[in-house]
Amino acid sequence: MASGLTDVRVFPDADAVARAAAARIASLIAAKTAGGGSFFLALSGGRTPRALYQCLAEDYHDRIPWARVNIFWSDERYVPYGDPRSNYRMAKETLLDRVPVPEQQVHPMPTEPADPDEAARRYERALPQSFDLVLLGIGSDGHTASLFPGSPALDQSERWVVVSVAPVEPRVRLTLTLSVLNRADSVFFVVTGADKTAALRRIVKDSPDYHLCPAVGVRPRGGTVIWWVDAAAALAL
Ligand code: 6PG
Repeated sequence: MASGLTDVRVFPDADAVARAAAARIASLIAAKTAGGGSFFLALSGGRTPRALYQCLAEDYHDRIPWARVNIFWSDERYVPYGDPRSNYRMAKETLLDRVPVPEQQVHPMPTEPADPDEAARRYERALPQSFDLVLLGIGSDGHTASLFPGSPALDQSERWVVVSVAPVEPRVRLTLTLSVLNRADSVFFVVTGADKTAALRRIVKDSPDYHLCPAVGVRPRGGTVIWWVDAAAALAL
């Protein structure tokens, strides 16, 4: 279903969303690496992408040229990598420990410097010029990555990675800015569950100012956005 200019693909449940998105990710990677190129992927955090990462690990272990994939993150909680709330830890457990991505091609956001802004600046220096694919989720408040409503990070045009303050613990986050997200070739929002119904409708149908609803600000100039959603999240579309 394309609601207006928004490409929204609705599936019966979260597992079907994971399978469909994984298949498309595999085809994007195949297309980009066919001529020997590399693929630059930014992972999202939170709970929703777990099923997608598990599907990639289980069904695409031998069907994706993982040696050509470079892994980054769209945001991170400023906690040690061993913290259960770490986006790096979640991706490591569900995907990275189970597929052969070369270790030097996995780039977690640093969370050990005492000054988070130093960590942000260090990560900026590691980023590619642009991503082939950025995976994102949304919160019920319309945030994406760690770009929260009213955040000054939303109008950062110079920086590629900034410190952000979340309304919930852990409050200190690092996040890619819209400058980076809007240079991506593809952005996949993966959204499942009834708790996202209102936010998804607001983003897709009302499309408020991005300062109020940051996910609306993700409009890659030369790229495409696809929403991979389940029936529960799409109920109000
Ligand atoms: C994070 C994420 C964040 C997430 C949304 C949805 O660090 O939490 O990057 O943007 O995508 O908050 O989270 P859930 O998938 O847990 O609902």
